[in-house]
Amino acid sequence: IFGAERKNSKGLNMNIISESKPFFAAIEKFKDTSWNAGPLVNGELLSGETHDVVSPFDTTKVVGKLAFANDQAIEKALSSADSAFNDWCNTPVEVRANALQKLADLLEENREELIVLCTREAGKSIQDGIDEVREAVDFCRYYAVQAKKMMAQPELLPGPTGELNELFLQGRGIFICISPWNFPLAIFIGQVAAALAAGNTVIAKPAEQTSIVGFRAVQLAHEAGIPKDVLQFLPGTGATVGAAITSDERIGGVCFTGSTGTAKLINRTLANREGAIIPLIAETGGQNAMVVDSTSQPEQVVHDIIDSSFTSAGQRCSALRVLFLQEDIADRVLEVMKGAMDELTIGDPSSIKTDVGPVIDATAQANLNAHIDHIKQVGTLLKQLDLPAGTEKGYFVAPTAVEIDSIKVLEKEHFGPILHVIRYKANELNKVIDEINSTGYGLTLGIHSRNEGHAQEIANKVKVGNVYINRNQIGAVVGVQPFGGQGLSGTGPKAGGPLYLTRFITEKTRTNNI
Ligand code: SER
Repeated sequence: IFGAERKNSKGLNMNIISESKPFFAAIEKFKDTSWNAGPLVNGELLSGETHDVVSPFDTTKVVGKLAFANDQAIEKALSSADSAFNDWCNTPVEVRANALQKLADLLEENREELIVLCTREAGKSIQDGIDEVREAVDFCRYYAVQAKKMMAQPELLPGPTGELNELFLQGRGIFICISPWNFPLAIFIGQVAAALAAGNTVIAKPAEQTSIVGFRAVQLAHEAGIPKDVLQFLPGTGATVGAAITSDERIGGVCFTGSTGTAKLINRTLANREGAIIPLIAETGGQNAMVVDSTSQPEQVVHDIIDSSFTSAGQRCSALRVLFLQEDIADRVLEVMKGAMDELTIGDPSSIKTDVGPVIDATAQANLNAHIDHIKQVGTLLKQLDLPAGTEKGYFVAPTAVEIDSIKVLEKEHFGPILHVIRYKANELNKVIDEINSTGYGLTLGIHSRNEGHAQEIANKVKVGNVYINRNQIGAVVGVQPFGGQGLSGTGPKAGGPLYLTRFITEKTRTNNI
């Protein structure tokens, strides 16, 4: 099951004029498009009470109209997905895989619209939008190939003469896929593609802030040949739609990406409901650290700090939150880092020049600003950028770096463009490792060191899912850096990795005394 034969998508290179010019011409026509989205139950767009979706970078700009799913839509989606399961589960895996390959093609063909939607609905930068489509395409192709490898033939098992023993892998039932707003296309599609490849029917609930991206992705999946009753789409809040679908006894599993608190709530809901004991795959938050020792190269370190902390306005689960700097090198790194922060362009995500766009909504903005006010009292402000004129129309948060004494002053993850810096002495490495492990989170870890033994020791002792040495710590690539953490950061298995599909699958042996 390791090493599926396929190639990752190339995406688009905005530094090559022959790629960027046609791209910018093609996105023009979506700049004023207004989408109309809502629940897709058996492929039908159900009407309901609609609201305007506005852009996080300018709340006067309407992206489209959205209806949330009501109780009738939820029940219809559940009963249809339940009835569709047997046929889909027994559809040859090659057919399921071909539909996902076709979906990958359609995502690429509709790339411009999807990228514009990511910038307008989610406030993502153009580069982030390009990367979203690329990753979504990779997920479709990766799980299509993995499913064929794992499921095309039963595994023949030994047994006495005259007896045929076979192990079959099959889908589990209705898989509930609940995805986050920070990767409205890539994670949305990744969850759905894995569940479908493995032979499950799916009810997809997007984050309420980014439902239109999910809506378009589901329309493309239906166009690609995924039967309309096999993939149902129910936008709505966690408290209503999320609670209803995770407590239903007909479901076969849940795949969730979001906060640790919500993952625990879903876990309790699954335990308390009637029906079978079913798996929860949860990919949650992090208190991600980078450890920089005195053998590292300051210019490279600064490049990777800026990238890891402020790309996507710090709204990646992988983003750097706590930078541990060995004191011998700290002043130099911080000086260069402050200069590099000055170079960041904050503003409209649809401009290719923008490095830092808005955060997702007013609540996120208020919470992050409250944290900045608080942490400036607890620690020492290193740098806070000024927000340029025009950003008051949206949910912008000023990129900020603050020096603190200990990771313990951070009670939780702060999901935005805020970097915390801690100095350590050469003989305090074990203390640093203990501090990082004490958070209970374990998603990404960055290490900058030219001392290989040092780097290996840190990598071995910190309990995390993804370690990056002498580079940035964001942007895991499907099939290259399977992504996901441990402890409070999630259950595994890792998305985009060879074991991911195993949790979407049930095993059946068949013994035939022929
Ligand atoms: N997979 C993303 C990354 O690696 C985080 O969610 O940046």
